[in-house]
Amino acid sequence: MTTQVQRYTVHPGWPAKLGPLQVPGGVVTLRPIRLRDGGAWSRLRTADRDHLQPWEPAGVETWEYRHHIANWPALWSSLKSEARKGHMIPMVIEVDGQFAGQITVGNIVRGALRSGWIGYWVTKGRVGQGVATAALALGLDHCFGAVGLHRVEATVRPENHASQAVLRHVGFREEGLLKRYLNVDGEWRDHQLVAITVEELQTSVVQRLINEGRANHA
Ligand code: ACO
Repeated sequence: MTTQVQRYTVHPGWPAKLGPLQVPGGVVTLRPIRLRDGGAWSRLRTADRDHLQPWEPAGVETWEYRHHIANWPALWSSLKSEARKGHMIPMVIEVDGQFAGQITVGNIVRGALRSGWIGYWVTKGRVGQGVATAALALGLDHCFGAVGLHRVEATVRPENHASQAVLRHVGFREEGLLKRYLNVDGEWRDHQLVAITVEELQTSVVQRLINEGRANHA
């Protein structure tokens, strides 16, 4: 009798390179975070404080301190460690090969849940050109493909109209309002919970964008 050993990975879908996808802002690709991203990460996030801070979880230290380049190696290391355990997928959004933001799938739970959340930011100089929508489409297709998730959720402040538009473009639907959910910018802020499950996809999310004229194969 032969014993069959089932091969599996504890971190399906990690690491991966996703895209390219053409949008008005350029060619969007996603790739794993790197140690050498520290300079771009620190420079963009420090300069973009007013653009990012109203929507992101508050921290104990000042914005400038938290985004000093010296903090990147520890952050990179802890995100990569979570990725290797299969809990997280931390990616950089590139536009025409340049660091333009980040997209992260977090709290990946398997078993009977097979779900995770997704969050993202795009640097101020690149907004309004379809970059986040393209990144989210690539990320979602990956979640429902190689990562093997059944449900992806996101939380967004009701005041964040740009992010709500991005979530709508890729097919998220509203599930409810989470009262005083997250400390953002010094206050406990309500957040809308939105979600999508694999059964809701009529086609890939990237194909949906292409069909709607929002993106093209690069
Ligand atoms: N009111 C309504 N719609 C708006 C507004 C507004 N004030 N501002 C922009 N939009 C629309 C745009 O018109 C566009 O829709 P369209 O394509 O139909 O014209 C859409 O919002 C933006 O789409 P993209 O261009 O794909 O998105 P962009 O690359 O500009 O990134 C993002 C959007 C990620 C919200 C960016 O502005 C950002 O990083 N903001 C700060 C951080 C943030 O809010 N992150 C998201 C937190 S919530 C979450 O992660 C689930």
